[in-house]
Amino acid sequence: MAKRKLRRAPAAPKSVPPVLPALIGPRRAVPREIPRPPYALTGDPGRSRPHPVRSPEVIERMRAAGRAAAEILRYAGHHVEPGLTTDKLDAIVHEKTLSYGGYPSPLNYRGFPKSVCTSINEVICHGIPDSRPLANGDIVNVDVTIFLDGVHGDTSATFAVGEIDEYSTMLIRETRNSLYRAIDVVKPGVPINEIGRAIENHARKFKLGVVREFIGHGIGEEFHGVLQIPHYYDSRARAILEEGMTFTIEPMLTLGDPSLGVWDDEWTAVTLDGRRSAQFEHMLVVTAGGCEVLTMCDDDAAMGHDASGAAVTQAGGADANP
Ligand code: MF3
Ligand code: CO
Ligand code: CO
Repeated sequence: MAKRKLRRAPAAPKSVPPVLPALIGPRRAVPREIPRPPYALTGDPGRSRPHPVRSPEVIERMRAAGRAAAEILRYAGHHVEPGLTTDKLDAIVHEKTLSYGGYPSPLNYRGFPKSVCTSINEVICHGIPDSRPLANGDIVNVDVTIFLDGVHGDTSATFAVGEIDEYSTMLIRETRNSLYRAIDVVKPGVPINEIGRAIENHARKFKLGVVREFIGHGIGEEFHGVLQIPHYYDSRARAILEEGMTFTIEPMLTLGDPSLGVWDDEWTAVTLDGRRSAQFEHMLVVTAGGCEVLTMCDDDAAMGHDASGAAVTQAGGADANP
């Protein structure tokens, strides 16, 4: 029998139509009684650089902020549907954050004008909520950070809007999986670059690109701390993980080339080739035996992971919305 000619899967197409800038509404108000981070007034986060290893007391507060962030993210995700504008998503996240007595950390952080980042299709990260309605077939990352009781909780997920194509489904699934492969390697004594190695190895299996310009970060009393967590293998990232370190891992994977450009708004990062990008983010603390994910939510559990990041069951929950 004649051998059938092997064909490569066609490369994922450019995301069309492209995401374009739309109208950005006024900044949302935060009631006087809600405690604010230092940059809320000026936009300048200052130079405070707390030690990357946090006290049990700070970690306890981060547990509460992390749980709140996870709940707000899940709440926002349940509202994602065709026709909803990202400005409405901003309102939903803003109000929910206030209901916890928290401040939405993105608001005026280095001048960011809104309360959450919403990044659609070829937008990699830092998308500014605006008047664009979500369309059937879009994918959207919602990146929630809350400042609660003096510490930040930071987590994000990418959601499907209505029915999405098979490339986007795979991109979302494997970006999430790459985050869990990375969480799996976290324990005291391991060099930080093992995190990026795990993400890169996973991405390679699915021919996905790994964005290099944005990395995970130390977090706690400050939004972005000194620890730097590349999502690719970086031989120079040799610092050793220690119990009590708190940081995020937030890989951005792409269907094509991960090279990026930034819009004139100086925030919105997009792939130069126009192909789609997805991102998932968790905040975690290194423990004696591994790590504890501080932003776990029920939906992660439904996807087969517990707070140590370990797979506890066969990955269930095949649906595209996390
Ligand atoms: N939440 C983002 C992160 O994961 C940071 C957003 S900064 C903002 O690090 F100013 F755009 F909000
Ligand atoms: Co974030
Ligand atoms: Co982050």
